[in-house]
Amino acid sequence: MSQRMPILCNKKPCYDILFTQSFGELWPSLAELGCQDRRICIVTDSKVDELYGAQVLECLEGKCLKAVKYVFPQGEENKNLDTVRSIYSFLIQEGLDRKDLLVALGGGVVGDTAGYVAATYLRGVDYIQVPTTLLSQTDSSIGGKTGVDFDGYKNMVGAFKMPRLVYVNLSVLQTLDDRQFFSGFAEVMKHGLIRDEILYQWLIDKMYEICERDLDVLQEMLMRSCAVKKSIVEKDPTEQGDRALLNFGHTIGHAIEKYKNFQLSHGECVALGAVAAAYISWKRDLLSMEEYYEVRDMFVPFNLPISVEDIDPDEILRLTKADKKMEAGRVKFILLKKIGKAVIDRTVTDEEILAAIREIYFSDEDAHA
Ligand code: GLY
Repeated sequence: MSQRMPILCNKKPCYDILFTQSFGELWPSLAELGCQDRRICIVTDSKVDELYGAQVLECLEGKCLKAVKYVFPQGEENKNLDTVRSIYSFLIQEGLDRKDLLVALGGGVVGDTAGYVAATYLRGVDYIQVPTTLLSQTDSSIGGKTGVDFDGYKNMVGAFKMPRLVYVNLSVLQTLDDRQFFSGFAEVMKHGLIRDEILYQWLIDKMYEICERDLDVLQEMLMRSCAVKKSIVEKDPTEQGDRALLNFGHTIGHAIEKYKNFQLSHGECVALGAVAAAYISWKRDLLSMEEYYEVRDMFVPFNLPISVEDIDPDEILRLTKADKKMEAGRVKFILLKKIGKAVIDRTVTDEEILAAIREIYFSDEDAHA
């Protein structure tokens, strides 16, 4: 059964997340937004296009003024200003004007890139998110953060631009390969760890059904996980304060992602960063030793790494400083005060960060110990 979750901006209804298990409600939802006399451009990547491009285009053709599709090559390396430029050119060529609409069909790369185009083309046009990965369904499609990478730095150029709708078709999760599916799970875990101990416990209880991708359980999981994101972005849409809590695991995570040249997935790096942040929390006596090990080991059944080979801890430390989560020269670190409650901390030292990186560093010596 479909369910709606309204998201407020400035205490007023702004857009809905619609949780469904097919694309059947896509056109009716766009009709509700008055799209009958608008041009619509689907923006997607080559992989998602193969799976769902034709199906989604078919939902729109003949119903709105014009429906077109722009496809760019898949991969984080294409989340850049060159892709943005080619989308602008396509929109101009197809005559899209200010009242037209973009549909971001894909994972985080597509959502962030198409969202940034929507934020800037003609000083802003409407867009909706149709996220097709667990990661984008639970995190990146919600809250209006858009942007692209620049010179290897994640999300360095961007804008806040709220979508008109987030359309979640859960059935697409069944076509994800295991690595991609579980990568998204890292962000679900993050939501439990930072804000919702009950969600965290529920994830432990439902481990089997989640791994089996039972759609009704996944729908409940997403609703619970998105409720955490909703509660945070509604209060702090532009990250002046508590929204930074959503960066739990991301400071060290982004540094590893860059160090590994995006060979590890975002979720895998977030899992590693979360273990490192939980380690610092334990060393500061915020978490008990048992809690630290429980958090760390929780990632294992979901196929997420808790250690990483072939890294240079000093270089990872250096990269944490180049991340944009800095304020007046200090890293804004997110620690766990307890499971289900995260805090922002600006006092984490280089030594603490290095010790945490060494904790997740799996070296040959460990293998032979
Ligand atoms: N993914 C972090 C945020 O939306 O703020």
